[in-house]
Amino acid sequence: MKDEKAKDEKATLLDGKKLSQKICATLKSKIEKLKNKKPGLAVVLVGDNPASQIYVAKKEKTAREFGFYSEVHRLPASAQEKEILSIIQHLNDSSKIHGILVQLPLPAHIQTQIILNAVSPLKDVDGFHPLNLGRLFMGDPLFTPCTPQGVMELLKEYHIELSGKSAVIVGRSLIVGKPLAHLLLSQNATVTICHSKTKNLEEVCQKADILISAMGKPHFIKNSFVKEGAVVVDVGINRLNKKIVGDVDFESVQKKASFITPVPGGVGPMTIAILLQNTLKSFERSMS
Ligand code: GUN
Repeated sequence: MKDEKAKDEKATLLDGKKLSQKICATLKSKIEKLKNKKPGLAVVLVGDNPASQIYVAKKEKTAREFGFYSEVHRLPASAQEKEILSIIQHLNDSSKIHGILVQLPLPAHIQTQIILNAVSPLKDVDGFHPLNLGRLFMGDPLFTPCTPQGVMELLKEYHIELSGKSAVIVGRSLIVGKPLAHLLLSQNATVTICHSKTKNLEEVCQKADILISAMGKPHFIKNSFVKEGAVVVDVGINRLNKKIVGDVDFESVQKKASFITPVPGGVGPMTIAILLQNTLKSFERSMS
């Protein structure tokens, strides 16, 4: 980790685009060596959330590009729990499918937990089934949620030291904040999770050696939140004036941080790479 940095020197970019391409190329070459069978990913998308539509299209395209079999099940926003559960059951039983992902958020009338519980833990490449979250919390993970795992791989690629460091996560979601806290803890970081009720958020962030923002507020994390030389990871994907921006005010923060993820091109591409990595892992387990 860079400890000393000249005042006007800019942070090193944590290039998720590059690392994700490297991971996906490895997956592709493994798949090319397989005889007859391909790992299969199924995505279930309910409703017409515009961001979800874009994410799902990207997942499908990338999966195919790197040699996976991929199918997307699109249901209207009016779909009932029963219909979604019946599709999941079919996918759990399908020998073509090794990974199942239910795109979140689900429409408000659907109980998300009931749907996530129905996905076979052995095909749960999103890592959201209680069994997989429980295994993660016990320090014996099978499938870990893709975005947090992507953050960890990015930190590892750039040899960011975690042991004994103070890691502050802004956001306590099931998708990012909570699982990421456990992954960082497993690498001996001292972890703080902040959320909407946290007092003195700015001061808490200033203590972070590693600051991770996953709250979905454009440019919320300003230069003043960041300790000199900190590593800043921006998980936010927000639309601002027709542009995609992160939670971090990149222009000002890059002058203070030692490392920083860009948006786009940071954590986003890593999420898909890990999803495909988990799908291949599930396939390999099913073959052994
Ligand atoms: N919505 C936003 N991020 C994710 C993700 O990683 N997985 C799923 N299933 N839904 C999401």
